[in-house]
Amino acid sequence: MSKRDFLTTAGMTRHELDDLLDLATRIKGKRPGQVLGGKTLGMLFFQPSLRTRVSFEVGMVQLGGHCINLSSDDLYELEPNEQTIMDGRAEEHVKDAALTLSRYVDALGIRAAARTSTWEHDRQELLLRSYARHASVPVINLETVFEHPCQALADVLTMRENLVSLKSRKLTLMWCNHPEPKSLGPTHSVLQLAALMGMDVTLAHPLGFDIDHEVLARSKTAASDAGGSVRVSNDREEACKGAEVMYARSWGCTKYWDDNEREAMVKRSLQGWRVDEQLMATTNNALLMHPLPVRRNVAATDAVLDGERSRIYDQAANRAHVQKALLMQLLK
Ligand code: CP
Repeated sequence: MSKRDFLTTAGMTRHELDDLLDLATRIKGKRPGQVLGGKTLGMLFFQPSLRTRVSFEVGMVQLGGHCINLSSDDLYELEPNEQTIMDGRAEEHVKDAALTLSRYVDALGIRAAARTSTWEHDRQELLLRSYARHASVPVINLETVFEHPCQALADVLTMRENLVSLKSRKLTLMWCNHPEPKSLGPTHSVLQLAALMGMDVTLAHPLGFDIDHEVLARSKTAASDAGGSVRVSNDREEACKGAEVMYARSWGCTKYWDDNEREAMVKRSLQGWRVDEQLMATTNNALLMHPLPVRRNVAATDAVLDGERSRIYDQAANRAHVQKALLMQLLK
């Protein structure tokens, strides 16, 4: 039987999503027992992480297994491209690392969310895809610049817990300012799942901060098939009217992906793009969501992050539950 990876929320069926969220709900607050006794998850972090690392570790331990974590400091520089002459900086090919690790661990998680080149290059997720191609064990995407599917599972579970049915509920995915260039992973992944659930999604961002064109087109089709919709607005105030969920997150400018200074210059005039009480007051008493970490009083104010409609810590907590469900599906 071929192994199953979890790399993207694109192409998930409604049945698969419901199954996973239902399992997460059943095991939430309970201990399903040592169902993954003796199993090992190897996680490779090429960028920092707090929530992803801790929630996976805690989840594996609660299921009777354990994790081994390596950061980029522990790893050789890797070559993801095939049939290259490795006379540069890379000491090891991903193929050799993946096939070796597959002899030690039962699943692999990869976080590789750094900008390395142009958007056309980075959107290919070469490191993650190379691990997935060569590893003989399941590979889980722990965030790339293109997707953060585990975060999106937790986000959809959080919305479902609050709104019950998500069909035709109004979600605004709101671009927020941030001093650093950020990935598009959480935005792409949650958009694709919200579309699958038939939500009415408004993607709100300043001119020039378009998301990936294929993700947008795919999401529009999926939403339409599920009885929902996806539209884009460049008007921050208009995009919030009637919103039942306000999902705040910064993402990078794909046009200037390989030019951080240019992006920073563009963002200097966009400081008004943050979520505050005034903006929240124009919504339909929206829940406030953010995948964290968040730049307080830059992306969103203390008042909304700490307000009674904020669900930011529920999202973080749900990471552990959806990931336990995912691990049970992939490894049991
Ligand atoms: N949301 C999220 O993935 O958090 P970390 O970067 O801390 O893992």
